[in-house]
Amino acid sequence: MPNLTLVVPWSHALLREVLRPGDAAVDLTAGEGRDTQVLADAVGPAGRVVAFDVQAAALKQAAAALRATGCTVVDWMTGCEVPATPGVYLVHACHSTVAAFVTSPIRAAVANLGYLPGGDSALTTRPETTCRSLQGTLDLLLAGGRLAVTVYPGHPGGDVEAAAVDRLFAALPCPSWQVLRVSVANAPGAPYLLVAEKRSG
Ligand SMILES: C[S@@+](CC[C@H](N)C(=O)[O-])C[C@H]1O[C@@H](n2cnc3c(N)ncnc32)[C@H](O)[C@@H]1O
Repeated sequence: MPNLTLVVPWSHALLREVLRPGDAAVDLTAGEGRDTQVLADAVGPAGRVVAFDVQAAALKQAAAALRATGCTVVDWMTGCEVPATPGVYLVHACHSTVAAFVTSPIRAAVANLGYLPGGDSALTTRPETTCRSLQGTLDLLLAGGRLAVTVYPGHPGGDVEAAAVDRLFAALPCPSWQVLRVSVANAPGAPYLLVAEKRSG
């Protein structure tokens, strides 16, 4: 039975709604590649996905999983811009450097904050770098493009990060931006989803 209160699948549905074959997309927290795979499937072999993570071991798992589904995966080891050539580029770098790697407009982006389930919970996203990465990504969105962020306020430090991300999204001017929040009404501290859609260029 589907679980209504899991917000990550909602983020996928809202990104699939705008992504088209051949588009460009960004995953700010690749982990083992589940969200990256959703983006890669939506943009298809003619599209480009750039995915960041600070954990080399997670990216290795992501690469294997993505290749097993037929994706063309490039381990992007240099510190410079990712080419426009189609493929899934896995970047071992902090997502706050997104603007150095991606310079052309994108249709959609995803961030699944916090730490990798089953991994080291100390390797978690942090308010300052998260907000820098989100702002850099918002700046890259095409009109009609979306950024979906799953926020985890329940782990140590997660509440501070959640407050910072809330402020960033709440400050996006209306009507240039439409901002949606999907949250579980009867479970305080549960993960929630923020989605920003750029309305004008
Ligand atoms: C909730 S997990 C992501 C799950 C992943 N999207 C998946 O589908 O498996 C959060 C990820 O953020 C990564 N992370 C933490 N700080 C980061 C940073 N500054 N830049 C990029 N990734 C970061 C962690 O290593 C972890 O893999």
